[in-house]
Amino acid sequence: MDTQLVELDLADWTAAKANGAWIAALEAGKVLYFPRLAFELLPEERGLLTPAVLSPDVRNISLNADGKLKGAAGDDAVQRAVAAMVSRFREQAQQLINGLLPHYTPALRLAPTSYRPAQVETRVQSWRADDKRLHVDSFPSRPNYGERILRVFTNANPDGLPRVWRVGEPFEAVAARFLPRAKPYVGWQAKLMRALRVTKSLRSEYDHLMLQLHDGMKSDLEYQKTSPQQTVSFPAGSVWVCFSDQTSHAVMSGQYMLEQTLHLAAAKQYNPNSSPLAILSRLTGRNLV
Ligand code: SIN
Ligand code: FE
Repeated sequence: MDTQLVELDLADWTAAKANGAWIAALEAGKVLYFPRLAFELLPEERGLLTPAVLSPDVRNISLNADGKLKGAAGDDAVQRAVAAMVSRFREQAQQLINGLLPHYTPALRLAPTSYRPAQVETRVQSWRADDKRLHVDSFPSRPNYGERILRVFTNANPDGLPRVWRVGEPFEAVAARFLPRAKPYVGWQAKLMRALRVTKSLRSEYDHLMLQLHDGMKSDLEYQKTSPQQTVSFPAGSVWVCFSDQTSHAVMSGQYMLEQTLHLAAAKQYNPNSSPLAILSRLTGRNLV
């Protein structure tokens, strides 16, 4: 497999410039990796790098688009400090994306920013929720009709530990392998799930197929072991960006990551034909939304 990583030598969040080759790589599902771009912590923020800032029973802390903080334990001062740190990362992530991908800017929809202080390797999860297995992102309760999931990640580990990912084969290969095994879409089941509030809106055939890919990949242990993949170690003080609905990824180890999600209509990409929606529509010969 060709490398799925494109390394960029940027050291300033505000200095990114649009570049056709990088944009094409990102839209082809590759990971843009910025080894010199660090999220700087203020001295007083070091104390926030502990799992103790997580409320009991939550996986992540998140700052909603409206500025509301969820999932953090601690008194008002701690809550304010966490919100300020996450919000500074949000601003820098937005500056980076606006510089790299200026055509996206007017079309982006801000999703929550998350701070993940939990250690990956000791987390126990069901196979479906286990992000240590290669997958493309797809969320059972939140149909998105082909809207893209663009994510900016930074490893803020204070002990110099990397965040280790596996990155798998390109989306088209994943789709070609798992579409033939996908269960067919059943319209009345989608309506029932909506009525029972299992889904927040009607699950489209696109959303159904994306979940089938997600579950097909995660449930196939042979695929997990033997499919084309590369292990990538993102050092502390680095940033990486990908479309996580397209890039096959798994997280193997690490602790203390911040992540910004941005949504984008597939039609607003530089090349809409490279989107999962376009690829799945081509492969099935159907309109999926
Ligand atoms: C994921 O989106 O699968 C998780 C990535 C990470 O936690 O590094
Ligand atoms: Fe994921």
